[in-house]
Parts: sequence; structure tokens; C-alpha cells
Amino acid sequence: MNVRFDPVDRLRGTVAAAPDKSLSHRAAMFGAMAQDPVRVTGYLMAEDTISTLNAMRALGALVEERGDELVIRGVGLREPREVDGLIDVGNAGTLMRLLPGWLAAQEGRSWTFDGDASIRKRPVDRVAAPLREMGGVIEARDDRFPPFTVRGARLRGIEYALPVASAQVKSCVLMAGMLADGTTTVVEPVPSRDHTERMLAAAGVSIVRSGSRITVPQADELELDALVVPGDPSSAAFMLAAGVLVPGSRLVVTNCGANWTRTGFMRIAQRMGAVVVGDFEPVPAGDVAIPTSEPLTDIDVTAGPLVGTTVEADEVPLAIDELPLVALLACFAEGETVVRGAEELRFKESDRIEAVVTGLRGLGADIEGTPDGFVVQGTGGLRGGVIESHGDHRLAMLGAIAGMASLEGVEVVGMETAAVSYPGFQDDIAGLLTS
Ligand code: S3P
Repeated sequence: MNVRFDPVDRLRGTVAAAPDKSLSHRAAMFGAMAQDPVRVTGYLMAEDTISTLNAMRALGALVEERGDELVIRGVGLREPREVDGLIDVGNAGTLMRLLPGWLAAQEGRSWTFDGDASIRKRPVDRVAAPLREMGGVIEARDDRFPPFTVRGARLRGIEYALPVASAQVKSCVLMAGMLADGTTTVVEPVPSRDHTERMLAAAGVSIVRSGSRITVPQADELELDALVVPGDPSSAAFMLAAGVLVPGSRLVVTNCGANWTRTGFMRIAQRMGAVVVGDFEPVPAGDVAIPTSEPLTDIDVTAGPLVGTTVEADEVPLAIDELPLVALLACFAEGETVVRGAEELRFKESDRIEAVVTGLRGLGADIEGTPDGFVVQGTGGLRGGVIESHGDHRLAMLGAIAGMASLEGVEVVGMETAAVSYPGFQDDIAGLLTS
């Protein structure tokens, strides 16, 4: 589906942040791993997170939709059942990389995973390696890609140093660790989103962090009663970028997650001069106990001038899904913007370095790709044109925001893919045009 986004005069009003995708995946999986019913409010009903609900149903969980609330009746940590056929993860990398952590520990049962064309290009060796060290059995196409099979085995706890910061790999190893003999420690090169740690701490698991080390013991059960999913900072970031870039805009995004491991984009935008005001969780100065909740904030944004900035490797995981938007802001800024240490972008729903560079260049940007990021020379704006989503939801929405802030408008090829994470995206934009 091709959709045109014409330049607009201004965006005004209030919009509730779309529910968080990362937290919805985890709520569904941990709900299914619990013994007692778990009530989830604010679950994201989008393609990715519906894939996760369907997978949990296939494993034996009952999922009941009661208006705004989901009630998940799980199977407990040790009783996921085998499925008829495949576990279809659709486009959902988080489902594909977290769930094997739970299933690898189920002796005597096996499951085969597959997904769409994009998922078939995304590596699973990054989770297969630590699971194998724990005693797990994973057989993947070319030893690296889906489809792949997880054969349950008795696991032993390990200490695993992540080769690159990845919340997905960290979460997978911690999930397996809860079922393994002994304790399991994951060492992070730099911090990444900590939703898994917080949710496990809330579920009564004795998970601890000490510096870059996160340790989990074997667990008997997850004690989750109710979970509230906040708004998604990554989805909200599109609205914030629109508010910053479209002259004359003033908008408020409500109910947004404010966890410091997710708000790197807000800090980068503020450094570029953007007026983005919220009650964001502060970056901790030293060791703090793992929180058992997710903070929330409303965010007030006003359009204004921007300057270029540099994003270094340690900031990358805290803004990983928003780096395409940093490139967009950079096009409108004065001076140069450099993003380094972000080679992980090449393994997302598309090669996001290649897709952002060719996509924005086609709209008039002065942008060069590097092996691990990009360099943008700000020219104060964008001409417009046509951008291809490459089946990547975040690129489709990037094109839409670019179009509204551009001189001539942008046609997005493949806009339907926004439904992977943000089905209400176009309606929310429409609401800000008429307020
Ligand atoms: C996610 C972690 C990130 C992110 C993805 C969601 C998660 O991936 O890009 O959209 O929910 O844990 P990596 O851990 O591979 O960086």
C-alpha cells in the first residue's frame, strides 16, 4: 500500500502513546510461564504481539480478551506443550529470540520456529551459542537462520559475556537460567533495555544486578498477578520527531514509558536542541537495585531549531530502534551528526543503515553510510519524494514523518507494515492535524 504524506502546517494536541511492544511480548511470555492467572492491561494489539499471543496459546496457555484487559492462564515454568506444526513468529524478532530460552530447558519436547521473509534473514546463532553452552540443542538453517528447531534438554547455569549489547539475547539467557541447574550470569558490555529484569524481579525471582553482571538463580515459579503495559517510547518517538520538525507544532504524548534504558532518543533529541520535556527516569550514577516497575511520563514537545550531534556506541542500545529518527532530525539540523558503533542496525527488520541512507538520500538528504552507522550533513530540511519501507515498520513511519516535515511531501511504499508495532499510527497523526 502506497500512502502520501503531504507537508503540514503544524501538529497540535494530545495523543496517548501506543502500548509498548517490548513489554507486551514479555507480558505474554511471562504470563504463559506463570501458574496462576495474570491480568494484563494495556497490551499492544499489533501484528508482532498478536504473533506472541498465538504462540502462547499454541504452547497451552489460555488467553482471554476482556475489553481492555487480557487474562493469561499459563502453563507454569515446566509444562509448555508441543505444538502441531511450527511456531510462526511472523515478523517478531523478540518472540523468536526470547522464547527459545524457555523451551530449550523442557526435556523430551521439541519445537520448530519459522516466520516471514524478513525473519528468515535474521540470525539466531546469537541465542543458539549461549543456549548450547548451557546444554541446549538448537538446529538452524545454515546454523544461523530460521527455520530452526529447539530440542529441550537439561540445562546448566553459565556465565555468559554478551559479545554485543542485546536485550533479546540477555533476556533469552536469563529465561533459560531460571530453569537451569545452578545460577546463570549475563555480563553486558554496556546497558540495554532492562524490562526482563524488572518483570522477573516483580515476579518474585531473586534476580540481582551488580555493575554489568546480572545473575538469576533457578526459579520454582513466577508470581505475577497483574501487569500494566505503559506506552512505547519507540512508538512515541515518531510523534515527538513530528512535533520537533513540523514548524509551529506543540503536542503532548501521554502515558509513555520513562525507563531510562528506553529514553536515549529523548536525551539525544534534547542535546540537539529539541524542546522535549518529561519526567524521565534519571540515568543511574552507580549500582541500584533492579526496580520492580516501569515509570511513566507525559511528554511535552515544541518545534524548534536543531544542531548536529554525535552518538557513540554506549548510547546506541538505549536508542537502538530510534536511530533512524536521529538521522531524520539530523537532516533538519545545522551541522554534522555522526552515529557510531551501531552495526546492530544491519540485523533489524531490514538493514537499517542501508535502508535509512538510501531512503533519506532519495528525499534529498546529505547522508553517508558507514560500516557501523551514518554521517549526516544537516541542510535545514528535506525536499521529499518516494521512500520504500522494505517491509520495515519503523522505516514506513519514518517516511511518513519525513513527508509531513518536507517541502514537497513523501510517498511511502509499503505503509501497511506500520501495523507490526503501531496499527493506530495514521489515526493518531490525523488526530494531531485536526486538534
Ligand atoms: C528488543 C531489543 C532490541 C530492539 C528490539 C526489541 C527487546 O533488539 O531492537 O526492537 O524487546 O528486547 P536487540 O536486543 O537485538 O538489540
